[in-house]
Amino acid sequence: MPKRIAIIGAGPSGLAQLRAFQSAKQNGEDIPEVVCFEKQANWGGLWNYTWRTGVDQYGEPVHGSMYRYLWSNGPKEGLEFADYSFEEHFGKQIASYPPRAVLFDYIQGRVEKAGVRDWIRFETAVRRVEFEDGMFSVTVKDLPADNEYTETFDHVICASGHFSTPNVPEFPGFDSFKGRVLHAHDFRDALEFKEQDILIVGTSYSAEDIGSQCWKYGAKSITVSHRTAAMGYDWPDNWAEVPLLTHVDGKTAHFKDGTSRDVDAVILCTGYQHHFPFMAEDLRLKTANRLATADLYKGVAWAHNPALFYLGMQDQWFTFNMFDAQAWWVRDAIMGKIAMPSKDEMEADVADRVAREDAGEDDYDAIWYQGDYIKELIAETNYPSFDVEGACKAFKAWKGHKKQGIMTFRDNGYASVMTGTMAPKHHTPWVDALDDSLEVYLQN
Ligand SMILES: Cc1cc2nc3c(=O)[nH]c(=O)nc-3n(C[C@H](O)[C@H](O)[C@H](O)COP(=O)(O)OP(=O)(O)OC[C@H]3O[C@@H](n4cnc5c(N)ncnc54)[C@H](O)[C@@H]3O)c2cc1C
Ligand SMILES: NC(=O)c1ccc[n+]([C@@H]2O[C@H](COP(=O)([O-])OP(=O)(O)OC[C@H]3O[C@@H](n4cnc5c(N)ncnc54)[C@H](OP(=O)(O)O)[C@@H]3O)[C@@H](O)[C@H]2O)c1
Repeated sequence: MPKRIAIIGAGPSGLAQLRAFQSAKQNGEDIPEVVCFEKQANWGGLWNYTWRTGVDQYGEPVHGSMYRYLWSNGPKEGLEFADYSFEEHFGKQIASYPPRAVLFDYIQGRVEKAGVRDWIRFETAVRRVEFEDGMFSVTVKDLPADNEYTETFDHVICASGHFSTPNVPEFPGFDSFKGRVLHAHDFRDALEFKEQDILIVGTSYSAEDIGSQCWKYGAKSITVSHRTAAMGYDWPDNWAEVPLLTHVDGKTAHFKDGTSRDVDAVILCTGYQHHFPFMAEDLRLKTANRLATADLYKGVAWAHNPALFYLGMQDQWFTFNMFDAQAWWVRDAIMGKIAMPSKDEMEADVADRVAREDAGEDDYDAIWYQGDYIKELIAETNYPSFDVEGACKAFKAWKGHKKQGIMTFRDNGYASVMTGTMAPKHHTPWVDALDDSLEVYLQN
């Protein structure tokens, strides 16, 4: 009997796992039976845009956290697949910061070519994963049929993402605030905030990008409130950075330094939780959003039971090609090509990764740390080797370009580390590019 493998989620990580198994099959290897459960009706994970917020038509929490007009916040040269370049997909090199629809098309192109769509059971939500007698029992719900059933598997690979369940702090006065309060997870269209005074809480990527979107699409002013430190970019004139919000009163937001201002909406860009309600307690990953996750040997194998794997659970500088490196490694561990060490050795590996991350001093150390992690994994598999250093250098250049101009950094281009081709300059500066459709983006 071939082994049975369950993959939870058909976002970029789950799709990387499907492609990893399919590439082994293509090379003539006997692969396990692979079943991927995806609660949405289509693949692509967060890149599969939905207008919905709250719960979906089946009462399931809406997974999507992406919004209209979202462009990649890092250069595509850092995330390119080593086995499927942008040039292969689009038939030409494209500019470096594609909008969501363009990246969705690229992700989809590789798995369409691989022919793995029928390995996925769509609109099927994983409800419960338990480990008994050496096997996993996975209980799922076929949502349209309103039917719950259980199957057993030798391995489970959890690729359900960790930027979907919002972290929502409360500030005094929210219950009587005379405007809208929402989390970034529910933000969909910057035009909703045109002509409004917006308060953003948080200083990471969502704060920077949602603030920039609202500015680009005509908000009257943007105020960003920080808990730890201001972002410190050279912001436009109608943009201010202030200390942490203490409370709101009517429409007035009050900050730690005693200042206040009137705002129409508060957007909480306060991050997300690693949330796996379907995992039995002894299988559930509990970790901070960091580069060295808790309890995962090599960043993927559950140290307490390495028949279980988690993909993509790290905080992310690298994304798609890191998920690939992980997926190829997990495939080879499952297929017996990579030996698993003792529990003590796995725990020592986790501790070592945490210590090495903690020893880093800045974002540049973090980028190289994650680059080295990718190199470590791909050295143990047949994932095509690529110039990870070059991708780290693209990230370094990107950070420099953000310091030079936070509203202009997306106008720069970088060389592909897969094909060596330089990205063309985009035809329209990002601040003027209001149409983010694939057709318009590809008009270079
Ligand atoms: C607003 C936003 C913008 C981003 N922008 C970028 C960017 O510009 N560039 C970049 O590289 N990265 C970006 N990211 C990072 C993003 O995390 C990755 O690009 C990528 O989507 C992660 O892939 P994933 O497959 O691990 O998770 P996800 O994309 O979250 O996919 C997880 C999948 O699992 C499914 N799932 C969840 N629970 C269940 C269940 N119980 N049963 C069945 N299926 C389930 C979901 O429906 C989903 O399809 C962004 C993230 C956010 C939140
Ligand atoms: N265009 C794009 O591509 C795009 C856009 C948006 C997001 N993203 C991606 O989405 C992912 C998530 O980013 P994120 O910014 O949502 O989350 P994040 O990186 O985890 O940042 C969370 C932020 O919330 C703040 N915060 C948390 N709790 C708080 C509280 N109680 N009070 C005040 N502040 C609080 C944190 O502040 P401290 O610093 O004080 O901890 C931090 O600034 C990233 O991978 C990012 O790349 C991409």
